[in-house]
Amino acid sequence: MSETLTEPVVVADTSAAVADAEALLSAELLEFLGCRTPDAWVAWALENPELLLIDHAQCEKKAASTAMSLLYRYVDQPLLLTKMSQLAREELLHFEQVVKLMEARGIAYRHLSASRYAEGLRRHVRPADPERLTDILIIGALIEARSCERFARLIPHLDAELAKFYRTLVKSEGRHYEDYLMLAQHLSDSPVESRIAFFVEREAALIQEPDTAFRFHSGVPA
Ligand SMILES: [Fe+2]
Ligand SMILES: [Fe+2]
Repeated sequence: MSETLTEPVVVADTSAAVADAEALLSAELLEFLGCRTPDAWVAWALENPELLLIDHAQCEKKAASTAMSLLYRYVDQPLLLTKMSQLAREELLHFEQVVKLMEARGIAYRHLSASRYAEGLRRHVRPADPERLTDILIIGALIEARSCERFARLIPHLDAELAKFYRTLVKSEGRHYEDYLMLAQHLSDSPVESRIAFFVEREAALIQEPDTAFRFHSGVPA
């Protein structure tokens, strides 16, 4: 068998895997995001498999923590309480799953500095409610949607165990994105479209700008 015959098969397999992973993402989610993850970030992630998992564990923990802080602050919002309680439990379960995977792979959990991503969004949150809550919920929707999109981008390049795990995460983070967006729209008295557009633009800039350290939500390598 000559190489000219085997080569196209490999290319076809890769593109089929990419198409398969892309199919996990809803059209609505892709439309919501201001840009796709650049290829340079995917390549950077694959060069840093340990950092990817450690920072991923951090992100799951932070996602649970954000949901918990909303539970404490907005006790008069029953729908938010139900959704955030479910979300916090799911994020902590994801955290446990990532830590277990790290242990099985001999990856030591260590502290990492946060990427500029979340802070780059949160610095624009308006200080007083109800605007504050609207902004936090929109940012929540963006972080969940981006995580979902990044998991799908990584899946075709990962080993079977990690790919299978990330496929399950695409589904749950996709649901979290929908819940945050629904809550932002439901709990605001005024239209939220212009605020969504503002944060979508900020988020896309953070994703496309150069970063010195690789993180799950970093931009492209500087
Ligand atoms: Fe999660
Ligand atoms: Fe999530």
